[in-house]
Order: sequence, then C-alpha cells, then structure tokens
Amino acid sequence: MFSPRIVGEQPRLKTQTELETMRHAGKIHARTIARLREAIAPGVTSAQLDCIAEETILDAGAKPSFKGYQGYPATICSQVNEVVVHGIPSEDEVLEEGDIFGADLGVMWEGYHADGAFTVGVGEIGGEAQRLIEVTRESLQLAIEQVEPGNTIRDVATAVQGHAEGAGFSVVRALIGHGIGSEIHEPPQVPNFVDDADRACYEVELQAGMTLAIEPMVNAGGADVCQDADGWKVRTRDGSLSAHFEHTVAVTDDGHWILTAP
Ligand code: MF3
Ligand code: CO
Repeated sequence: MFSPRIVGEQPRLKTQTELETMRHAGKIHARTIARLREAIAPGVTSAQLDCIAEETILDAGAKPSFKGYQGYPATICSQVNEVVVHGIPSEDEVLEEGDIFGADLGVMWEGYHADGAFTVGVGEIGGEAQRLIEVTRESLQLAIEQVEPGNTIRDVATAVQGHAEGAGFSVVRALIGHGIGSEIHEPPQVPNFVDDADRACYEVELQAGMTLAIEPMVNAGGADVCQDADGWKVRTRDGSLSAHFEHTVAVTDDGHWILTAP
C-alpha cells in the first residue's frame, strides 16, 4: 500500500474473538488462492481469475475487501511480470507461458479483513524468475518468524531486506505492509527495509493481539517503481520482474498465528 492510506495512529489490539473472526476470513482467503492456483495457466485472462476469486469469496458468504476500496473496481490485483502491485484485471490480459503472475486479494468476513498475495510461474519459467519467486516467498517466511511479543517492526523489516538483498535483488520502498483488522489498512506501518531517516516506525514493539499484513515486494532489478496513468498499476521503473507475497499474521502470547494460512 501507499503509506498515507493507513487509518488511525496506534495499532489496535484484537481480542481472541476478533482474531477468530479474522481467521475465518483468512480461511476463505486461502481457499480462494487455492482455486486461483489451479486455474492459472497459459491462455487464461486475469479477468477470468478475478471472476473465480469473486465467486469463491461470495459463495463463502464473505465480501472482496478491495472492490470499491478507494474506487478499486475488482476483487484481485493482477501482477504480471514487471507489475509490482495494483494491476486491474482485464479480458485483454492473457497469461503466457513463461510469465510470472501475482494475485493480491482481501476477504472481509463479519467486518474484519484478511489480506494476502502470492506469485507463481505460468507454465515453464526461467531460472532467474523462479529464484526471484523463491527468495520473495522465503523473505516473507523469515519475516513471519520474527513475529513475537517484544520483537519490533525493525526485526520484521530487517529479515525481508537481508534475505532479498543478500540474494542480489532489491526491495520496493514506495509501498509497505500494514496493520489490518476492521480496516484494511491500520497502523502500524510494516516496511520491508530499514531507513533510519524514519526511525519511529521501526521501534514499534509487537504485542499480542496486533495483526499485521506483511508483504514483501521484491524486484529483480532496481527498487524504483512508477505508476500508470490509470492511477493504480505500479511497475518496476527499469522493467525488471517483480514478485509479491503477503500473509495476514497475528501476534500471539507465544509467537504468531498466520491467519491466511491454508
Ligand atoms: N493489498 C493491497 C495493499 O495492502 C490493497 C490493495 S488496495 C486496492 O496495498 F485498492 F487495490 F484494492
Ligand atoms: Co496488504
């Protein structure tokens, strides 16, 4: 997300009941992603994938979180190759063998959101593309392993940045992860890099009941991004490939709970 959209100032801690409601949203989210993974193939359009996602969510009695959010017109964000985030699905966007495809989507259940994303190869993909996907997925996993009471946002950010940059890739800085709950974007900010010019956000201490959408966006080339004239689609400035993974994670007394896990 772009940081100014975060609603409120202090992270709001969730009760056990609220966490269970979010977990229900997360289970629907995981089911939706499983359906998308089965459908992704050369020749499929992102508009078809959007329909599958919307149907799965509505059939579960839930709502797509993104549709209507700040005027966003679809259920998923479609992220093909150099598209980092927020691509609007289209009938003209046909997946081709060798592409990498990412989908980001949110599910709202009883007023609470679960947000998550994944990236996958379409058919056979190149070795570098495969490595980008793997490293981005691992950087999310390493970030989640830092989620426990007493650790800070800095620990989460450092885990992503260290792994992605250590592999020779770069981390997007213009967009960050976020708290989540009854709003899709709540405090705290969850960057994927550490920038000491902006210290305050890194010192936020994780407490049981916090719910975070952790979402590394990793580029094969440079970190810079640019936005299309439609006001949504964000691409890498140098046209290099970009991968995105995201889970909604709760801080618990003894560690964490991945609310969007299958
Ligand atoms: N998962 C996205 C984010 O956290 C939300 C997409 S906003 C939408 O930034 F408007 F594109 F839906
Ligand atoms: Co998000």
